[in-house]
Amino acid sequence: MTLRLKNWLEAIDRKEKLITSLPPFRQYGKLTRATGLVMEAVGLKLPIGTLCIVERHSRDGIDKVESEVVGFNGQILYLMPLENVDGILPGARVYSLETGASKGKQLPLGPELLGRVLDASARPLDGLPAPVTLQHGSLFTQPVNPLQRDPIKHVLDVGVRAINGLLTVGRGQRMGLFAGSGVGKSVLLGMMARYTKADVIVVGLIGERGREVKDFIENILGEDGRKRSVVIAAPADVSPILRMQGAVYATRIAEDFRDRGLDVLLIMDSLTRYAMAQREIALAIGEPPATKGYPPSVFAKLPALVERAGNGVKEGGSITAFYTVLTEGDDQQDPIADSARAILDGHIVLSRRLAESGHYPAIDIEASISRAMTELIEPVHYKKVQNFKQLLSSYQRNRDLISVGAYAAGSDPLLDKAIRLYPQMEAYLQQAIYESSGYEEAGNNLDKIFSD
Ligand SMILES: Nc1ncnc2c1ncn2[C@@H]1O[C@H](COP(=O)(O)OP(=O)(O)OP(=O)(O)O)[C@@H](O)[C@H]1O
Ligand SMILES: [Mg+2]
Repeated sequence: MTLRLKNWLEAIDRKEKLITSLPPFRQYGKLTRATGLVMEAVGLKLPIGTLCIVERHSRDGIDKVESEVVGFNGQILYLMPLENVDGILPGARVYSLETGASKGKQLPLGPELLGRVLDASARPLDGLPAPVTLQHGSLFTQPVNPLQRDPIKHVLDVGVRAINGLLTVGRGQRMGLFAGSGVGKSVLLGMMARYTKADVIVVGLIGERGREVKDFIENILGEDGRKRSVVIAAPADVSPILRMQGAVYATRIAEDFRDRGLDVLLIMDSLTRYAMAQREIALAIGEPPATKGYPPSVFAKLPALVERAGNGVKEGGSITAFYTVLTEGDDQQDPIADSARAILDGHIVLSRRLAESGHYPAIDIEASISRAMTELIEPVHYKKVQNFKQLLSSYQRNRDLISVGAYAAGSDPLLDKAIRLYPQMEAYLQQAIYESSGYEEAGNNLDKIFSD
């Protein structure tokens, strides 16, 4: 037998093997076009969201590329690959991985996931074997009836003084963390993950640099944080489908713990990258861009994700969530920041000015708000918070005058008091990375500032 013939027979053999090793297929189609991020296939009738595989001829033979149906146009299905598409040929066969009615993706859930770092499809990234769990669930769940949702009425201690004392967060509240790059988002989220009183922490690292993922897990979350956390990482270099799926999977895991009656802290870094992933997909399948390049579907996906966090039905567990929102160049008009502010129950703004002066966590108290706070704390405490904000704001407005010595003491009693208390207020707002500060301590320290 000539070598060529042998190779050819072997290739057929491999192809047979590939095909027979797959689940029983009802149908297969052919790829007609692949441009940019999407591929088009004909000859298949599949619901959106179905997982498919596309045959690929590579140097080592035939293998498969997982893809997901993201839309259709007449008889043409739009597929988006979850991995590299090099080697895919025109006319390549496309198989559906699901037969009959689509059940949607089923991913592992449950307490066995604690301490693990997984990717958006639940494959381990921590070098340990794949998680063995008793329970698998679909990524999508029925939304909680808003009238049956337990209201936000209990404080969640997040372990950060400035937040506990001045921007008190309740169990089931959804907060945004608005900041540009490098001003301390990850460190602040890590502090909350380590010191919070929540039972379980679910972290979604979406669209960030790969190096950042390792840094967050090893240095910022640390051993203590990791034990009671599940980390789902979908860094910037993976397909936008997986980045979106990562955010949804993290939310789904949090929902599962909540339904077990636990108080969950869900940390999503970042919501902006989630929106960008949806923008990539939507633009690729031809949705017209609307606001600053974002197609309308992005603004529908954001509330759909965020609304899944929050309290469960009465007396159930809770998901308190922190979503980071990137505000590049301090652009508060960014459409994602705008939309996020409207759908979240409060926002914490990190300021570059404070970070640059070494004031950490760089929370801009004046620009931040917790909308559930008034229902959570005593009126006397709230009075002190308002007082604190007034004094701080008065000091900031007159900062330049004070620093050049142009302010004459006695002309403004509020400013006099602000100047006297400023060192204590500043110390109150600052907190070192490895320092924990409980809710009670935050209240007591606030009292101390005003009792002098
Ligand atoms: N509480 C803190 N105390 C001291 N330094 C801090 C504190 N928080 C942040 N920093 C400093 O700020 C740096 C940047 O923080 P971090 O990585 O959290 O920023 P980021 O906003 O997540 O950045 P990126 O946009 O790159 O993700 C840290 O490396 C650290 O040096
Ligand atoms: Mg970061």
